[in-house]
Amino acid sequence: MPADTLSITDNRTGKSYEIPISQGAIKATDLRQIRTDAEDFGLMTYDPAFMNTASTRSAITYLDGDRGILRYRGYPIEQLAENSTYLETAYLILFGELPNAQQLADWDFEITHHTFLHENTKRLMEAFRYDAHPMGMFISVVAALSTFYPEASQIGDADNRLLQIKRLIAKVPTIAAFSYRHSLGRPIVYPDNDLSFPGNFLNMMFRMAEAKYQSNPVLERALDVLFILHADHEQNCSTNAMRAIGSSQVDPYSALAGAAAALYGPLHGGANEAVLRMLHQIGSKANVPAFIDKVKQGDGRLMGFGHRVYKNYDPRAKIIKRTADEVFEITGRNPLLDIALELERIALEDDYFVSRKLYPNVDFYSGIIYQAMKLPTSMFPVLFAIPRTVGWLTQWAEMLADPDQKIARPRQIYTGPEARDYLPMGKR
Ligand code: ACO
Repeated sequence: MPADTLSITDNRTGKSYEIPISQGAIKATDLRQIRTDAEDFGLMTYDPAFMNTASTRSAITYLDGDRGILRYRGYPIEQLAENSTYLETAYLILFGELPNAQQLADWDFEITHHTFLHENTKRLMEAFRYDAHPMGMFISVVAALSTFYPEASQIGDADNRLLQIKRLIAKVPTIAAFSYRHSLGRPIVYPDNDLSFPGNFLNMMFRMAEAKYQSNPVLERALDVLFILHADHEQNCSTNAMRAIGSSQVDPYSALAGAAAALYGPLHGGANEAVLRMLHQIGSKANVPAFIDKVKQGDGRLMGFGHRVYKNYDPRAKIIKRTADEVFEITGRNPLLDIALELERIALEDDYFVSRKLYPNVDFYSGIIYQAMKLPTSMFPVLFAIPRTVGWLTQWAEMLADPDQKIARPRQIYTGPEARDYLPMGKR
């Protein structure tokens, strides 16, 4: 029976060490005992971008990039996208189990009745320029909410924590829609408590003079499916930001504003916008082979292809492709889809992409759907932030309850100058 340990010999000293292995990992702090002498700080690992470091244990989301598997709390993403709603999935992610009928009704009621924003937040939004990016507004308003709910800083109180979580899940669509309306100079539309979570969001985005907004059920469902697909994705850049900021024990509004800021970047929540730009630039199906050749020669990337973790078809991309067909039945076919399908067809047969395991990721088709639903490009990162809110908050709550966690504080390898004396201006 092999031992669950790692034997290390330090060739600098000739000393050997036995390091325990648990769940396929060693503790980085176990390496600290490996020292050249009493003055030595001890051995560290150097891992920029956390390429091979587990920063936490987590029971929320399972991802196997080689096999193209994504599960929330054990449930395959395909089954949730087929059968669940965003609000039910949010409950599952947050509490760990699917709700029964009463729990779901209560949850639905609670979220629906926390959708309103304090009127002062409206005035805060009015202060933004007419062309302010909705994501910049979203981040600012989420951060500002901490001043409306100062009790949110009592993060050790479980009931209080849950109240803030409900508030955030409920209010992010309202903030998102208000930001969009501001960018168009349109009057804001208040939440309608009779509507579903995605239906109310579409209402706040698009209602004009009609007394009651009625969204198309197919589009409403498509949006709900996209929300399910984006609800969590384990330790990605923005989730890591949420946990790192939250580890200082700040309130969840401030931490979530930081997570949303991380999402704003083009390498994370901004990739679907880049896909749309690329499709416009290609212009027609006939130009696809020439574009692929350019990419293969190292001139640009095929946006929406490839993923740090998925080395197989992103399971979310498969679902989105099906959703696109349903949406286009209603909206008419987005002409960009033909270019996207041709790109995918050629790329999946081409050895350059096959040998590098480059497959469509979640962003390859989502932008085309959003565009067909008349959701503008600047709203794409905001549309990502709305459903990811439950993921961020669940990961935050898990972090707070984890006795292994402390304030996040990586080490560094110092490469700067040795100690030196301050030089007066005249001697520099
Ligand atoms: N088009 C062309 N070639 C690519 C692409 C692409 N989209 N992605 C990777 N490659 C190539 C690289 O040039 C490299 O080739 P080489 O070995 O000959 O040098 C090889 O594939 C490996 O690429 P890396 O950059 O090392 O892969 P990494 O895991 O670091 O990058 C990333 C992943 C950033 C997603 C990358 O695939 C990419 O830039 N894709 C396009 C942008 C995109 O769609 N991002 C959205 C990701 S999903 C999300 O965040 C929600």
